[in-house]
Amino acid sequence: MFKYPKVNYIGNKEKIAKWICDQFPSDAKTLFDAFSGGCSLSYEAKCRGLEVYTNDILKINYHIANALIQNNSDVLSKEDIETIFSGNPFEGFMFKNYSEVFFFPEECKELDLYRKNIEKLDSETKKSLAFALMRRTMIRKMPYSRFNINWDKIKQLRDEEYSYEKYKRKRAYHNKSFKYHFLQNVNEYNNAVFNNSKNNVAYNDDVFNLLDYIKADIIYLDPPYTGTMNNYFGFYGLIDDFIETFKTVPFENNFVDRKPVGLLFDKLFSKLSNFKYWYLSYNNSSFPTKDELLYLLNKYSNNVQVIERKHNYKITGKEKKEANKEYLFIVKNELYQENIKEIYATAEL
Ligand SMILES: C[S@@+](CC[C@H](N)C(=O)[O-])C[C@H]1O[C@@H](n2cnc3c(N)ncnc32)[C@H](O)[C@@H]1O
Repeated sequence: MFKYPKVNYIGNKEKIAKWICDQFPSDAKTLFDAFSGGCSLSYEAKCRGLEVYTNDILKINYHIANALIQNNSDVLSKEDIETIFSGNPFEGFMFKNYSEVFFFPEECKELDLYRKNIEKLDSETKKSLAFALMRRTMIRKMPYSRFNINWDKIKQLRDEEYSYEKYKRKRAYHNKSFKYHFLQNVNEYNNAVFNNSKNNVAYNDDVFNLLDYIKADIIYLDPPYTGTMNNYFGFYGLIDDFIETFKTVPFENNFVDRKPVGLLFDKLFSKLSNFKYWYLSYNNSSFPTKDELLYLLNKYSNNVQVIERKHNYKITGKEKKEANKEYLFIVKNELYQENIKEIYATAEL
């Protein structure tokens, strides 16, 4: 059995991916994971033999998906790793823009070198795997594993004596090199690559641009949970900047603000006619509420059910204290059924 590697994605569904996939109907063969993030759900679905289409608006999440879901066979060899880590660090984009913002200047120079070297790898899939691993190393070196912490706080938490005195943890791993972390993780990522004999595809777009073009039996919706800590551009935009070597801009339709989110969900649900079954993850501390979501979903189907279970998200290293209820809304798209019947009816004539 293949194992999903350590991705450490905020809001991931790793612990409940099996439970979610257990709810999928047996006639479903294809799945569109429309907000795929770190791909924990897509990976489980790929393991179960579904044909998986992923999408996320962040570039780094596209690369994770390209490396672990679309990719059937490419892994990083010893020579590839040598290519990534050869040469001399230099003062490039990361040095100029992010020295003493997220990393020390010498570390930024190393990142500039590795970014340039990744371009030398001989396949796009290998590049994606290298980016996914580079993400892992950047996250390991970053206090709280996200890039919206200010430099004074970062420096303080990377001071091992201070950290030990204050938190009884040295967090020495923040000060290990990128190369050290890369080598620690590369086998796990390589071993996670497998072929499920399906034509899995990774997309990188605003979900609203794709819904008319992708068809699948199931659409899985795991948008940012509005009202919780959910600014994904803030968490991971820096990694997109590293990949693109320019400063990227925050994306729209981001499910961050509470005010417009009801309308955004309504717009989303109104565009799901290409999918027979809709699965939506949400929780009890977000907006819209469970009842509001049910109201919106009932506009499109009379066949809606919600199941729930406990699920605590790890935030800043601690388990959230209050019990969190995780909802899974399951919708049978009756319109989709009608369309199918119409097609059959025509065929019989
Ligand atoms: C809760 S996370 C998904 C977590 C994922 N299921 C996992 O297990 O790792 C939500 C994701 O939605 C993405 N996102 C937000 N707005 C989007 C949009 N308009 N189109 C596509 N993706 C979007 C974010 O980048 C983020 O990765």
